[in-house]
Amino acid sequence: MLFDTIRAIRWENDHLYLLDQRRLPQERHTLECTQVTQVAEAITQMVVRGAPAIGITAAYGVVIAARMRYAQAGKPWKTAIAQDIDLLARTRPTAVNLFWALEHMRELIAHLPEDQDPVAALLHLARQLHSDDITANQHMGRLGAELITAGAIILTHCNTGSLATGGFGTALGVIRQAYADHKIAKLFADETRPWLQGSRLTAWELVQDNIPVTLIAEGAAAFLMQQQQVQWVIVGADRITANGDVANKIGTYGLAVLARQHGVKFMVVAPTSTLDMSLPEGAAIPIETRGESELLQLGPQRLAPAGVAAWNPVFDVTPAGLIDAIVTERGVVTQPDRQKLLAMMQNSVN
Ligand code: MRU
Repeated sequence: MLFDTIRAIRWENDHLYLLDQRRLPQERHTLECTQVTQVAEAITQMVVRGAPAIGITAAYGVVIAARMRYAQAGKPWKTAIAQDIDLLARTRPTAVNLFWALEHMRELIAHLPEDQDPVAALLHLARQLHSDDITANQHMGRLGAELITAGAIILTHCNTGSLATGGFGTALGVIRQAYADHKIAKLFADETRPWLQGSRLTAWELVQDNIPVTLIAEGAAAFLMQQQQVQWVIVGADRITANGDVANKIGTYGLAVLARQHGVKFMVVAPTSTLDMSLPEGAAIPIETRGESELLQLGPQRLAPAGVAAWNPVFDVTPAGLIDAIVTERGVVTQPDRQKLLAMMQNSVN
């Protein structure tokens, strides 16, 4: 596919390779993971980030753990691997794709015999989750692009592309497809403070794939909407609850409020692995708070005076009422609510 050259997660020669997103855009450095502890650390430290990418990486982490545990004599591997899966589950709290992927691995483990090498079966499933994610993204790309009319000005937030997924992307997948369909007149990405997923990752990924993009400071979004005919704000999601509330990168809620004020439409693009039908509403989603240093420093350089405190919640919740469309691989739900999402999950797409 045109405009889609980046893959952040690779399983090759029995090893897991992760493109180190902390070093972008300065350096394209790949990290090799041979231990489950390394995989867990890579997720916590944001070597790999983005909801679907975290889930896929954790699935490969279980494969690595199984290899180690099965080789260890004397202890049943199924008992031993449970603690590795728990370790992976503790890496980040908000993106439900992590727990979704680990649950799939757990279910398979439950059906595998204790006295047989589990690696091939687990690797097969991890690869399947990875390739299913790319297929879902490509399908969502087409569904989402159909909602966009030619000549559109679009604003996106965070990084939702190949770097954040198995490949192709969620919101950025829709943008990729709409660009290939010649529908985008101008694409804006905000820098996405404090970790700068927009300027460091989205801008980098789009430059690699020859899709023109213009960066704005987050504070410029309101003025952009006031000044220009923005048609859609398009974002991804880390968790969508049964009523259609959406947890996504901090700043998403603000953009949704601004979009409503300015008559701009708001699209959320996420595979059904991001849907958490067990939670009734967004208030129940655990929101990750990360270290103060992400705000107070830029690399080694201090941005704020010593002695100042910082609050760094890294996700927020956008109420369903501010969302015009949720695009999943099972279909598009407009003006999402509990009934419509349930119907989609039961496969009757509206
Ligand atoms: O903290 P991050 O970088 O993992 O947060 C990523 C996001 O919030 C993305 O917008 C979200 O995962 C959807 S991407 C497919």
